[in-house]
Amino acid sequence: MKLENNTVSDCSIIDLSKICTESGNITVVENGSNIPFEVKRLYYLYDVPSGVERGGHAHLKLEQYIIAASGSFDVILDDGINRRKISLNRPNLALHILPGLWRELHNFSSGSISMVLASHEYDEKDYIREYSQFKIFRNE
Ligand code: TYD
Repeated sequence: MKLENNTVSDCSIIDLSKICTESGNITVVENGSNIPFEVKRLYYLYDVPSGVERGGHAHLKLEQYIIAASGSFDVILDDGINRRKISLNRPNLALHILPGLWRELHNFSSGSISMVLASHEYDEKDYIREYSQFKIFRNE
């Protein structure tokens, strides 16, 4: 299947489960267990000023888990035809974003942390940063 055939409904929310104790919880993400790609990079977004929107791009081959490690935010996914809004607000839930989809991140709560597990190292050539280019890519 061509990467650009992925749709917004192909992206799922994964319950990573949690180990609960009286003194707090642990959630584990482990290669070969509860993530369908090998993690090559982890990064996190924090201190996002109120009202700021992030994302606004697509990736050609990168797959990601996005997790609200703290606080909450919304992810808008767009496959060129349909848009879907997913609100993330629990550290045990991961949104699996497939390659070839436009994404925007909105409505960051104060103190929120968006943690991203990525299938590849950073590569600017993997980005599509113009929505018009994204539409051309989807229609190819
Ligand atoms: P970008 O992916 O556009 O951020 P967001 O989707 O959160 O809006 O990246 C913002 C800047 O940070 C851009 O100049 C590239 C740089 N960057 C890296 O150097 N390495 C990385 O792993 C990431 C994710 C971004």
